[in-house]
This record gives sequence, C-alpha cells and structure tokens, in this order.
Amino acid sequence: MDFYITKDYEELSVAAANFLAGQITLKPNSVLGLPTGGTPLGMYKNIVAMYQKGHIDFEKIVTFNLDEYLGLNPQHPQSYSYYMATNLFDHVNIDRNNIFIPDGKTQNPIETCKDFDRTMAKFGSIDLMILGIGANGHIGFNEPGETLQVNTHVGDLSPETIDANSRFFTDKEEVPQKAITMGLGPIMKAKRVLLLASGSSKASAIKDAFNGKITTGLPASLLQLHCNLTVILDQEAATLL
Ligand code: F6R
Repeated sequence: MDFYITKDYEELSVAAANFLAGQITLKPNSVLGLPTGGTPLGMYKNIVAMYQKGHIDFEKIVTFNLDEYLGLNPQHPQSYSYYMATNLFDHVNIDRNNIFIPDGKTQNPIETCKDFDRTMAKFGSIDLMILGIGANGHIGFNEPGETLQVNTHVGDLSPETIDANSRFFTDKEEVPQKAITMGLGPIMKAKRVLLLASGSSKASAIKDAFNGKITTGLPASLLQLHCNLTVILDQEAATLL
C-alpha cells in the first residue's frame, strides 16, 4: 500500500489526475473503473484540462462506472450517467461505445447486472480502478454488512449513504434507496487501485480501513489485501492515521 497525503483538496485533485494521466499515457487502451460523487470532481476537472492541452488521448480508453442509482434514467441530473457525461465524457474524445454504466432504468436489474459482468469479463481485468470511500467505509455501493458480493448486484443504500447523498438532491425523499453496483470481484482483480478521500468526515473510515481489522463491516478494509493499492488523502482525511 502506498499512501500520499496532500495539503488539501486542490492538491489531491491534481495528484489524482496526474496518476490517471500516467495510466492513460503508458497504456492508451487502458480499461478504467471510475467513481462518481464529490471527491473525484476535481480530478475530472484537471483531467479534462490536460486533455484540452493535448496531453492525453481517450480514443482507445474503455470505462466501466462503479455504480448507478436504480430508478434514475441516464438524463436525470442526479444520475451517474449524467454526472459522467457532464464532468468527463462530453469534454474528451472517448468512443461512446467504450463507455459502460449500469442502466438505472432497467426493467430487468438481474439481467442488467449479469450483462455488465459479462461485458467487463470480455475486457479482462480493469487496469486502473479509481475509488472514493463512504464515511461508513463503503466502496462502490458495497455497503457494510455480514457479507459482501463478488459480482454486480442491486444493493440497498444504507441510511448514512442516503443521508450523505441527499446533498445532491433538492429533497431527501428523492434519493434512490437502491443502486446497481460492481461487487468486490472486479475491484480486487483490478491491476491497480487508486482510492481517494478528502475531508474530516472520511478520517475515521480511513483509519479503520487501513489500521484496523479486515471486515465486511467496513468494505474498504478488504483493500488491505490488494497487491497494488495507492491511497491519496488530503490532510483532513489523514488526521486519524
Ligand atoms: C460513487 C461511489 C461511492 C462514492 C462514495 C464517496 O460512484 O462509488 O462509493 O465514492 O460514496 O462519495 P463522495 O466522494 O461524494 O464523498
């Protein structure tokens, strides 16, 4: 495990974008696993700026998003499809056929999950999986519990996650209660994992995930078993380490 502690969110965002740009430069046909949420916004902003300066090329890049809210169509402003379009995909030369995000509006979630796994399997393992972390230690929407799942599945969002994500919705009642999420399989199988955490609300999850026991009660703790993990934190997220 490699840990890097940056001064603040700005520095974290630049460091994460540089890490991602390095991957794209060294392997232009990389398969990426991508997160949404507040944390990676600065990374996406910086990566778009690098693309606009001609430093990186997305032509052969393939992306799989970690998750999508169940029930939201891709045009919904809070859907992760919309987030990815507005924060990254609309600004770079990625081939639309190489973008994979679970369909939140599916009529058959079980088949959609299987399909997502089948498509991922066609590309082999993910080259770089980028993750955020929930204050409760979730990764993707693999929430703390007695067990964790390997494959893509529909998961119930925990009350803490619904609460945290309500900041993006006008009304807490609108926050979907379920999401389609990758399981732990593709995360643990990824060639490299980059985990990002910013702010004091993540400090306790970061401490428990990396200084504590490996437990399904804190899904990010399983990353202790990953053989190529980099963690970039800002100082606030690192205070309890
Ligand atoms: C989102 C995802 C989640 C977030 C986590 C942190 O695609 O997979 O695990 O990374 O909820 O969210 P923020 O960055 O908003 O604190």
